[in-house]
Amino acid sequence: MLDTALRIEPAAGCGADVRDIDLARLTPAEAGQLRQALFDHGVLFFRDQTLTPEQHIALAEQIAPIDVNRFFPAAPGYPTIAKVEKTAEQATNIGGGWHTDHSYDVAPALGSVLVARDLPPSGGDTLFADMYAAYVTLDAETKAQISGLRAVHGSDHVFGEKGVYATTDQPELAKGGVETPETVHPVVIKHPGSGKPVLYVNPSFTLRFEGQTREESLPLLMKLYAHAMSMDRVHTLVWQPGMVAIWDNRATWHFAKNDYHGHYRLMHRITLAGCELEAA
Ligand code: OGA
Ligand code: MN
Repeated sequence: MLDTALRIEPAAGCGADVRDIDLARLTPAEAGQLRQALFDHGVLFFRDQTLTPEQHIALAEQIAPIDVNRFFPAAPGYPTIAKVEKTAEQATNIGGGWHTDHSYDVAPALGSVLVARDLPPSGGDTLFADMYAAYVTLDAETKAQISGLRAVHGSDHVFGEKGVYATTDQPELAKGGVETPETVHPVVIKHPGSGKPVLYVNPSFTLRFEGQTREESLPLLMKLYAHAMSMDRVHTLVWQPGMVAIWDNRATWHFAKNDYHGHYRLMHRITLAGCELEAA
């Protein structure tokens, strides 16, 4: 069979749509092209897919080894698939603030493969922000200011015994007794797949710059966050049944909108293992 190039069309703001591909029957050549497209575009969107949980796992493994998230409940019968769920009765959703998954890990997850399983009648969009573009569009003075800086990331304030989820109606996400030491990453990383510089701090898990208090760090962190949230570098993914998104955690942030109260939403997420990050 001839290897044909994937049909990839850049999406508004961030990421790219991939057309004419069956994720349940990916050839090794297509998997290689998908991985490179993921590194280049940060997030890929797919329509009209019919992935069983087994095919979801096989797809993830064609891209990278699986990294099981230690906080999320698993889909019944599938320990490597995380359940991202909000019931009609719950008020709190998962991922309802700008973040990138696993930045609190020494080797942060490469990305995630998210499959829509049950969608509300409307709402429940996911926003994606482009961190390559966030870095490139910083002014020269700010680039100089963050050059060589490193930042401390942690998860206890989110997933710990006294973290934000503990006092919500998603308390099973707050895990007492799970060892989560803080970790340090460069503020501008060299993307391991593309070699391009990326802004690697995020509002949910970055605590402070190394060698500074949180108070000392906040003015610059807030400036970087405000810049990175600029809507002209954000894509709004409006989910339809059969849609799949694969994102790169080093190149993008994401935000799950919580605007469908009284309705059920279920997504299946497989997290892809990553590597330690180097400065750009
Ligand atoms: C996640 C997440 C977004 C969504 O799975 O990591 O943030 O829209 N989900 O469900
Ligand atoms: Mn997330």
